[in-house]
Amino acid sequence: MSTFGVLGTGAVGQMIAGKLIDLGHEVLMGSRTMDNEKALKFAGSFPGKSFNGLFADAFQFSDIVFNCTHGVASLDVLRSVGKENLRDKLLIDLSNPLDFSHGMPPTLSICNTSSLAESIQSEFPELKVVKALNTTWCGIMVNPGMIGGGDHNTFVSGHDESAKQRVKEILVSFGWMEKNILDLGDLTAARGMEMYLPLWLRIWGATKNGAFNVKIVS
Ligand SMILES: NC(=O)c1ccc[n+]([C@@H]2O[C@H](COP(=O)([O-])OP(=O)(O)OC[C@H]3O[C@@H](n4cnc5c(N)ncnc54)[C@H](OP(=O)(O)O)[C@@H]3O)[C@@H](O)[C@H]2O)c1
Repeated sequence: MSTFGVLGTGAVGQMIAGKLIDLGHEVLMGSRTMDNEKALKFAGSFPGKSFNGLFADAFQFSDIVFNCTHGVASLDVLRSVGKENLRDKLLIDLSNPLDFSHGMPPTLSICNTSSLAESIQSEFPELKVVKALNTTWCGIMVNPGMIGGGDHNTFVSGHDESAKQRVKEILVSFGWMEKNILDLGDLTAARGMEMYLPLWLRIWGATKNGAFNVKIVS
């Protein structure tokens, strides 16, 4: 049994927290307020296994924290936690910098020469940031076997090799085949992982089905 923090109470935060609990771990789901209805309801469904708190509490609870917050808010979320609480923590960044404020389709608030993951790493060097899982719908993140016999790819990138190794182990525990976890290198690879989202959204629109993924063939 391990402990994990989850930032975010949306579909992704709940899906990740649920999987971690299924695997026998304990989770604290952080949000902006202590009385967040979704977090309270989720914690109530898994007494003794799931807890709720503020974003900072997720870092107090565990050394490994999933960032499942709205991408354009992620930096503010971490600012609210405070640098002193982030030292040596592993942040698994699932978020995408999608800006819906000008309508559909969303634009990327950071791209080309940087990424959200790099912006987080640069502002918070205390963290070890690993980008992962942001390229699939959350149902597939925690259950890759639901499509294609589970034989399709997911990506990781990050500056810290041991942090990336830990994330790969977690992904294997989620059901990803080791051979399909493609290490794209340092965190600059997060640019491509995030810039895939406009294509992801168009495929979703064209097929009316978010339960798809990519497989590298050659
Ligand atoms: N949905 C998917 O299948 C999927 C797949 C891949 C990646 N992603 C990415 O995963 C992330 C989470 O997605 P989601 O659909 O679960 O939820 P979301 O609606 O994008 O984000 C929900 C979380 O963001 C927080 N948040 C929103 N605005 C905020 C603000 N102004 N300040 C502070 N916190 C704020 C909310 O906090 P409160 O709890 O306090 O309200 C909530 O916990 C996103 O970055 C998304 O792009 C989603």
